[in-house]
Amino acid sequence: MDVIGVLTAGGDCPGLNAVVRATVVRAIERHDAEVVGILNGWEGLMEGRTRPLDRDDVRGILARGGTILGTSRLDPYVHGDGFESVRKTLESNDMDALVVIGGDGTLRTAMQLYEDGGLPVVGVPKTIDNDIDATDVTFGFDTAVQIATEAIDRIATTAEAHNRVMLVEVMGRTKGWIAAYSGIAAGADAIIIPEVDYDLDTIAKIIRKRHRRGHTYSVVVIAEGVEPPAGLEVEERIDQFGFKRLGGVAYTVGHEIERLTGFETRVTVLGHLQRGGTPSATDRVLATRFGVKAADLAAEGTFGTMVALRGTEMVAVPIADACATIRGVPDQIYDVAETFFG
Ligand code: F6P
Repeated sequence: MDVIGVLTAGGDCPGLNAVVRATVVRAIERHDAEVVGILNGWEGLMEGRTRPLDRDDVRGILARGGTILGTSRLDPYVHGDGFESVRKTLESNDMDALVVIGGDGTLRTAMQLYEDGGLPVVGVPKTIDNDIDATDVTFGFDTAVQIATEAIDRIATTAEAHNRVMLVEVMGRTKGWIAAYSGIAAGADAIIIPEVDYDLDTIAKIIRKRHRRGHTYSVVVIAEGVEPPAGLEVEERIDQFGFKRLGGVAYTVGHEIERLTGFETRVTVLGHLQRGGTPSATDRVLATRFGVKAADLAAEGTFGTMVALRGTEMVAVPIADACATIRGVPDQIYDVAETFFG
C-alpha cells in the first residue's frame, strides 16, 4: 500500500483544509493509500513530526480557514541540512510520495529537494496573491478578492458620507492581483499596483477632476508591494525568518495625496482579514479539484510536477515551470481597470 505524505507551508490561505481533505479522501478511496500529515510545514518534515490522517480526521474541515496541519516559513535549505533530515522522515514513515501545498517559495524548495535528492513531490499552488506561474489561478485568491471587494464597498459609503478620499491597502506581496481585481469589482477611482509605474500628481489630478464633477469623495486601492513615492521612505521590517514584512506603504502615499489634493485622506490596511476564515465556494471547488488531482499524481508516481488549472482542465505541469517567474497582472487587466478611473 502506498503512503502519501501531505504538508502545508508558508503563509496560510483559505482552502488549505479543502486541499488536505480532498487529497486524503481521494488517496484512501481511489488509491487504497495511507496518508500521513506533516505538522508545521517543512519544520515537521525536518523534525519527523507527523500524524496519520484518515477520513475521520478530515471530516468537517472543508469550510474551515487556516490549516489543520499547521504551517511555518522554515526551510530545509535555510534552517536545516537540506535533503538529509527530510530523507530520514520520508524513510521512517515509508513515504512513497509527498504532496506539498505552498506558494512560490515553498514550491521552489520542493523543486530543489526533487532535483537534489529525488523528493517524490507533487506540488499544489497556494496563495491569495495569485502570483504563481503555469496555472491560471491559485486557490485563496477568489476569497481574498471577495473580502477586499466587500471592504471597499463599505469604505465607499462612509467616504461619500464624509467627502473623504479613502485609500485601501490590500495584500499581494510583489504583485497587484488582489488590488486590480478588487479595485475593478468595487469600481475604484484609481488602483496603484507594483506592475505599473505610478505618479502621485496624476492620481491627485484624477481625484480633483472627480471632485470638480461633483463627486466629492474618492476610493483608491493600493497594493502593499508598491514602492513608496520617490524620495520618501517606509521603514523596512523583517520577520523572524528573514522575509521582508510588507504593509503600511498606504500611510505614506495617503499623506502625499492629502498634501497634493487638499482633501482629507484616510487609510485602511486590510491585512490578514484577507487570509483568514472560510474559503469562497469557488475556492472550495478549486482546492478540492487540486487535492484530487494531487492524490492521483502522487499515487501514479508523477513526481516533480504541480497541479494546475488551465482553462477548465486540471493538469500536471513541471514544478520548474511554476517557479520560473512570479506572475504579475497583465497589461490587459490594468487597461480595463484604468478605463474607469476618476
Ligand atoms: O503571500 C501571502 C501573503 O498573505 C502576502 O500577501 C503577505 O504579504 C504575506 O503573506 C504576509 O505574510 P505574514 O503573515 O507572514 O506577515
